[in-house]
Amino acid sequence: MVAPRRWPAGAALFLIALLLAACLSSSDAALKKYKAAAVAKHKAPTNCWVIYNGYVYNLTKYFKSNAHPRGNAIMKPWCGKDMTRIFDASHGSSALSQLKKYRIGKLA
Ligand SMILES: *[C@@H]1O[C@H](CO)[C@@H](O)[C@H](O)[C@H]1NC(C)=O
Repeated sequence: MVAPRRWPAGAALFLIALLLAACLSSSDAALKKYKAAAVAKHKAPTNCWVIYNGYVYNLTKYFKSNAHPRGNAIMKPWCGKDMTRIFDASHGSSALSQLKKYRIGKLA
């Protein structure tokens, strides 16, 4: 009787890691790339893009919704800019998950 061949756990884990890495990188690679100069052109609340942590977010709809607890005025100066530091300094994880809905691309 022949014992069934089994893959060593290490090989299985390696394959899973490889698959996961491929998935993650392909979804990231699929993101449209924008130069900071392109983001900078969207500096009005009616057409507002921001940079957060290397990604680009289109906050136009968020402005329209008037949903910011401290009002639109506080966000306005950040349209077209990198808001990473101020965002992290004043928001928690729930705001971050909200923000992610507005991601449109990656900083080139
Ligand atoms: C940005 O959001 C506005 C409002 O939802 C939309 O009209 C516009 O097409 C969006 N632009 C991009 C590049 O996602």
